Amino acid sequence: MRNHCHLSLFLVVSALVISSSCITADVTDAVKPESFILSWQDDPARTMTIDWHTAPEAYSFLEYRKKGTKEWLIAHGDLIPVPDSDNRLYRRELRELKPDQLYEFRFGGQKSVYNFLTMPESLNRPIRFVASGDMMHNWEWTLNTAQSVMKVAGEEIDFAVIGGDLAYADGDPERLRRWFRYFDIWSTAMITKNNRVIPHIAAIGNHEVKRGYIYRYQPVEYQQPDFARREAPYYTTFIPFPGEAGYGVLDFGDYLSLFILDSDHLNFVDEEQADWLSVTMQQRRDGRHLVPVYHVTAYPSARSFDGRTESAIRENWVPVFEDNGVRLALENHDHTYKRTHPIRDGQIDETGIYFVGDGAWGVRTRVPRTDEDGNWPWYIANADSIRHFIMVEINRHDLFLEMYDEDGRFFDQLHIPAL
Ligand SMILES: [Fe+2]
Repeated sequence: MRNHCHLSLFLVVSALVISSSCITADVTDAVKPESFILSWQDDPARTMTIDWHTAPEAYSFLEYRKKGTKEWLIAHGDLIPVPDSDNRLYRRELRELKPDQLYEFRFGGQKSVYNFLTMPESLNRPIRFVASGDMMHNWEWTLNTAQSVMKVAGEEIDFAVIGGDLAYADGDPERLRRWFRYFDIWSTAMITKNNRVIPHIAAIGNHEVKRGYIYRYQPVEYQQPDFARREAPYYTTFIPFPGEAGYGVLDFGDYLSLFILDSDHLNFVDEEQADWLSVTMQQRRDGRHLVPVYHVTAYPSARSFDGRTESAIRENWVPVFEDNGVRLALENHDHTYKRTHPIRDGQIDETGIYFVGDGAWGVRTRVPRTDEDGNWPWYIANADSIRHFIMVEINRHDLFLEMYDEDGRFFDQLHIPAL
């Protein structure tokens, strides 16, 4: 009798152990993604691209649902080979989403539920994004600025626009782990208190390309079809848009088009890119805000005004911007803070373009250039040697920018009225 009791107890306990281990295998034993990043390759009102970086044994699917609905939908990721690494990258573009909606998602086998917001089709509220560039000389600075962005923005932020020089890996396998660090910051710090993940849109910079600039290669090298993948292996793999192309446009309903441009890294500023820009901007002259984002500046605060790429941008892109009603251009690369006067035809003009940026999210800063009397160049309205980020608010007719330092202290602002 006593032995029988022991046997029954053993069977019950075994069953409990077996059933609980089945449950944990489904829900918590799966390997957690090491990092993830959200971005857009297409209509931000109806799509979301989710990348997750994992160990080989992790699950290859995620689940998602519109907030407030019960049923989880399963979406399998495409396996994207990562050059020089055994790590796996899965990518899935969710399509046919509803505009202006909160969606929940979780990675296969995981309990943690995150969410994202699709953009509205028309401007039913102000849209806010954070802009900066030159992200990561060291990850402590990158993380600190990211935490300050989220402290300042709270839930009032829709996405991030980064103007190049992301992980500072220079396409070097020895520095690949810097990318994983970079994504780690995005998947831990660039999330709101409500677990909403901030999508990341990024232009290419010189530190994404082995030799930095396309003009440092011979035509026989850059004319090869695998040039972009070979010379910018991580940017083209890890950044879904514009990725291998190097430049592209992202249309937000009828209110905003972001032109993500390539300042001589995988594509020359002039030639095909300038032709494409001219046609593509003209097609969008319907009252929407046109905002170009790129790495090297047209109006530098620290570097030379006569630099090759700087001159090429003023010659090839700026007249196109002016012809199509651009009011704000986001620039980077100089590792300072800069805001120009409005400029048209190479002089200060209230109907002109404000060039703002100069890229110092997480890098050692430079000192803005002055003449011997300590004056900035004629086009600079404000400049400083300061790590910072810019909160851009898009309204129907005007733009409003607020600038904050790396610790979230407000230090400058700019209102760009409609003309
Ligand atoms: Fe740069």
